[in-house]
Amino acid sequence: MNLISISDLSREDILRLIDSAEDFRARRGSHETPLQDKSVAMIFEKPSTRTRVSLEVACRELGGHGLYLSAGELQLGRGETIADTARVLSRYVHGITARVYSHGTVAQLACHARVPVVNALSDWEHPLQILADLETMHQHFAKLEGLRLAWIGDGNNVCNSLILAAAILGMEITVASPHGYAPKARILEQARSLGGEPAVVVEPTVAAKGADVLLTDTWISMGDEGQEAERLRVFGKYQVNSKLMELAGESAIAMHCLPAHRGQEITDEVMDGPQSAVFDEAENRLHTSKAVMAWLMGNM
Ligand code: CP
Ligand code: NVA
Repeated sequence: MNLISISDLSREDILRLIDSAEDFRARRGSHETPLQDKSVAMIFEKPSTRTRVSLEVACRELGGHGLYLSAGELQLGRGETIADTARVLSRYVHGITARVYSHGTVAQLACHARVPVVNALSDWEHPLQILADLETMHQHFAKLEGLRLAWIGDGNNVCNSLILAAAILGMEITVASPHGYAPKARILEQARSLGGEPAVVVEPTVAAKGADVLLTDTWISMGDEGQEAERLRVFGKYQVNSKLMELAGESAIAMHCLPAHRGQEITDEVMDGPQSAVFDEAENRLHTSKAVMAWLMGNM
C-alpha cells in the first residue's frame, strides 16, 4: 500500500493513524521499534525543514535508517527514469518517501516500486501534513466529525488534501480564495464523490465566521516563485489576523503547516497568540510520520 493522496485512506485508517500517532507521542523514548534494521529512501526535489527532519527522526526512533536523497544528486538528475529509480531503490530499501514538483512523479514512483511509497508533498497534495493537522485538531476538540474548517488563501496542495480529508471525516469546510486561486474543480468533484460538500467563497470573513479552525498557508508555494509580485498583490486581504480570529470566536484555533511568511498570510499576534496551534501542529509531523511508516513499512 502507498500513501500518495489522503484519499488513499479510509475514515477508519485515518482514525487509527491518529490513535497510533498519539500513542507514539505518549510513549516517546520507550515505544516499539517496528522499523528495526529497515531503511527508508527519502527523495527531495525541493527544500524542507519539517518533513525532512520529522521523517528522519521518526525513522531513527522506530529503529530504522532514513537516507536523505537530494534528487539533483541522484542519477535521476542526469536522466535515469523514475521507473528505473523506483525498481532499483526497491532492491535496497523497505520504503520510499518523495517530495516532488509534479504529482505525476510520486505517482510513477509508486507504480514501479515494490515497496510502499509515501508522498512527502507534491504540487497536488500533502497528505502527511494533513494527518498531523488532524491529530492537532483531535487534540484540541476531542473529535473531528462536525468540526467547521475555514481555509484562508491559496487553493493549493495542502488545501486539496484538507478538502478531501474533510469529506472523508464529515467535517465542514469553507475555502476563501481570490478569483483564479480557488481549489480546482477536480478536487471539489472528488470531495463530493466522497460525500463532502466543500464551499468556496471569495470573502475571508465569510469563511472565518463561526469556524472552529482557521487554516492558512503561504501565498507563494515552492514552484510559484515566478508569480511572486502578482500573488502578493492578489492575496493581500487573505491574512489570518486577530480580526479574523475574533470572527471565528474564542474557542477557535489557528493552524499553518509552516513555513510561515509572518506579516503576509498570518500575523505575529496570531502565530504567537493563545489560539495558535501552529507549533503543536509542527510537532505532530513527527508522531504522524511514525504512525505512517510503522503501518506501511514496519512490523506492526
Ligand atoms: N510543512 C512542511 O511540509 O514543511 P517543510 O517544507 O519544512 O517540510
Ligand atoms: N504549499 C506549500 C507548502 C509547504 C509545506 C508549498 O507547496 O510550498
